[in-house]
Amino acid sequence: QMSRVIVLVDMDCFYAQVEQRDKPSLWGKPVGVLQYSANGQSGLIAVSYEARPFGVKRGMTANQCKELCPDIEICLVPQGEYADKADIQKYRDASAEVFAVLGSIDSRIILEKASVDEAFLDCTAYVESRVTKVREETIQRLLDPACLPTSFIVDGKEDEKDEDETEDEEETVDEEARLKRKNERIEMIRKRKIEEFIEKCRFDDEFLKIALAAEFAERLREKVREKTQFYCSAGVGNNKTMAKLVCAAHKPRKQSFIPPGSEVDVLRNTKVSSVRGLGGKLGRSLTERLGINTMGELYRTPSSVLTATFPDNAPWLMQIARGEDYDKVDSRVLQRNLGVGKNFPGTMAIYTNMNAKFWLNGLTKELRKRMADDKIKHRRLAQKVVVHVTTDVSTSKSVKVGATEEKEGRLFEKLWPVMQSMRKGPGEGWKPPIFNISLSAGRFLEGLPSKENSIIGWVERRTKQLEEMEGKDAVEKLNRDAAAEEKRRLEREEMGEEEGEGEEMEGIFMVDNLDDDDDDDCLIVE
Ligand code: CTP
Ligand code: CA
Ligand code: CA
Repeated sequence: QMSRVIVLVDMDCFYAQVEQRDKPSLWGKPVGVLQYSANGQSGLIAVSYEARPFGVKRGMTANQCKELCPDIEICLVPQGEYADKADIQKYRDASAEVFAVLGSIDSRIILEKASVDEAFLDCTAYVESRVTKVREETIQRLLDPACLPTSFIVDGKEDEKDEDETEDEEETVDEEARLKRKNERIEMIRKRKIEEFIEKCRFDDEFLKIALAAEFAERLREKVREKTQFYCSAGVGNNKTMAKLVCAAHKPRKQSFIPPGSEVDVLRNTKVSSVRGLGGKLGRSLTERLGINTMGELYRTPSSVLTATFPDNAPWLMQIARGEDYDKVDSRVLQRNLGVGKNFPGTMAIYTNMNAKFWLNGLTKELRKRMADDKIKHRRLAQKVVVHVTTDVSTSKSVKVGATEEKEGRLFEKLWPVMQSMRKGPGEGWKPPIFNISLSAGRFLEGLPSKENSIIGWVERRTKQLEEMEGKDAVEKLNRDAAAEEKRRLEREEMGEEEGEGEEMEGIFMVDNLDDDDDDDCLIVE
């Protein structure tokens, strides 16, 4: 069957690293990046790894984190021009530097920007071209400890933990020695598992392909570091979901990969909400309606139950539970949406229409500015703007826009009535009040990806390869499956359940959503 090799690269504490690079004395120190806001709602949006052991988390105020970590260095996000918004251009520029490196490494690799600090790379063609090379030589190279220096195998087996806790009887003479021994043990297990994995590569091309992609990812991360000074982590797997999932297993400055066939083991104890595409409504309703908390539980749920409860999504849910994901890596370096938004938590909630108008106006100006920048940079024009308002429920409406709306004030004139139409009940105000307003411009005209990297090109290439390997019938079936999957994906997206990392929403703070980095509550979905 068709198997792919996908790498997910995610920058470590990205905005914090940008600040550390700006001010090198901050490297190695606990750093928090604070988004200041005139209404008193300052909150951390990035936290360096040095600050994390103190319990400092995204969303905390300056005071809260100073209490936990008195030595923390706080960097402020520059202020934007409009609507009391942060100006995150400097982080976007740093992101562009990273993507320039990611995109320049090998033309056979398909690169998809998934968010400001994250990219999927489809390395299938690249590793397949290398698999055929002299095998013994390749294996010897991979066995060299210098080849995969920061790689970990994630196979869902618990043996790391067992061995970790054994030697505890020896009096903890000093903490330092104990920590050193512990790290040595971790390193020993890491190396042993890698060796076992590479040994399997002698007989199994699927293993070899993953190992080659991991080798590639090591070098790619090294290159990113060399060119930008930034550290990142990576995950390698047979699809996007698994690559993203294992990337988080060892961070920062590390990478992880899964032995083919271990997907179900890796997923067994994974929380549903940590899985790509299940971070939102769909994931929540799995828990609420069926009591499913982990992927293992989802895997064991009879298909009849899933089909009865989630008729449209059941096939996809069952696939994901098996660790299968056919979502393709789109050659896409441009964002699909330009978004601006703001939270109004607690007492900040908007009750009056005048206040709503004020904020919509500010956000619209901010959006217009971004659309204008984007137009110049990418020579494309948004054809649609979505207004998203959260009161006790979230509602969104989209409007067609065009050249007319580029004129000062025109976009607001178009959006304000739309927002008005979302107001419930009688009277002038908003009851229940507004907790979030977001705008997103999308459905761009022009701005197509370059020809040789285009999705079409990729599909054509793969189709030809497959036809040679498997015959026409199998390929036709695959294409039908792919079409059906694409349709379901679009449906999920429409329902607002796709995690939508692509539609990044920057500068919003998640004051009311501190616990996990489940960003999707603030994402705009068409
Ligand atoms: N970000 C944000 N608002 C959010 C989520 C993320 O502004 N609600 C920004 C952060 O400042 C962050 C960047 O987007 O630096 C990337 O986010 P993410 O990858 O989730 O976290 P990192 O800070 O990079 O930390 P990690 O090392 O855990 O990936
Ligand atoms: Ca990150
Ligand atoms: Ca990220």
